[in-house]
Amino acid sequence: MNLAINIDELREARISLTGKVGLVPTMGYLHEGHLSLIRQAKAECEHVILTIFVNPTQFGANEDLSKYPRDMERDLALVKPLGVDLVWTPSAEIMYPTGYQTWVEVEAVSYPLEGANRPGHFKGVATVVAKLFNVTQPDKAYFGQKDAQQVAVIRRMAVDLNFPLDVVVCPTVREADGLAMSSRNKYLEGEYRKAAGVLFKALSAAKLLYEGGERSGEVLKGKMKEVLANEPLAELQYVSCADYDTLKELAIVKGKTLLSMAVLIGKTRLIDNFVLG
Ligand code: PAJ
Repeated sequence: MNLAINIDELREARISLTGKVGLVPTMGYLHEGHLSLIRQAKAECEHVILTIFVNPTQFGANEDLSKYPRDMERDLALVKPLGVDLVWTPSAEIMYPTGYQTWVEVEAVSYPLEGANRPGHFKGVATVVAKLFNVTQPDKAYFGQKDAQQVAVIRRMAVDLNFPLDVVVCPTVREADGLAMSSRNKYLEGEYRKAAGVLFKALSAAKLLYEGGERSGEVLKGKMKEVLANEPLAELQYVSCADYDTLKELAIVKGKTLLSMAVLIGKTRLIDNFVLG
């Protein structure tokens, strides 16, 4: 496993990777969700590049950038047995040197849901992912369905900016009680950890209605709200029933649909989603 920090090192190591290259971008503090992306990339590509970079530009002013969990040694030990060829861990100064002033902004699909609650977040995500694509030149890039809007934004950007690569979306990996794995779950202790299972319960209840034939967006959202309201430690930020690609809210569910939500459990903000249809 090769390690690169600066861009010249990365480019030099990249040249020696012939055949299909899969890219797995992450912010580190890896868990089984990240590892599943690496495994899928490994199964589909000759070589795998993993990037670990806690991207400052996607964190809001009052978000947890300085507190974001980091453990590079543990991350490297976790991925070594998976056959990753190259790990790139640039610093913020390498990605955003003095004088930096270029941004990628994906419009409509960035605005609702997470975009409305985290202004500037997707501008930071799209910019860093475009830079990662440019430097690593992958044939395929792997992202988790867990971050559904991020997937929608990056798919749009890849088409709009003519990146010659496939965006591959991998299923959400969950804990035994259904809680989607996330680096932020480490903040959940005791009763809060137990309460966090409510996101999966709410999505499952709405999906059950859908499978019974319900197609009203309001009714499906109402069901999710009702389940969330029964958990005193959960504070709802939003629930949504939207078109999978455009993220426009649906009065009547038709075609591929995204049920999604953001919920505060204590101070920890969790997101989750199911895809219907
Ligand atoms: P990060 O939160 O570290 O996630 C890296 C990748 O792992 C993302 O594609 C995310 O959707 C995926 N992932 C996280 N939890 C998952 C789970 N439980 N199951 C399946 N996949 C999961 O997302 C980011 O980093 C950043 O925004 C990034 C794309 C790296 C840009 O900075």
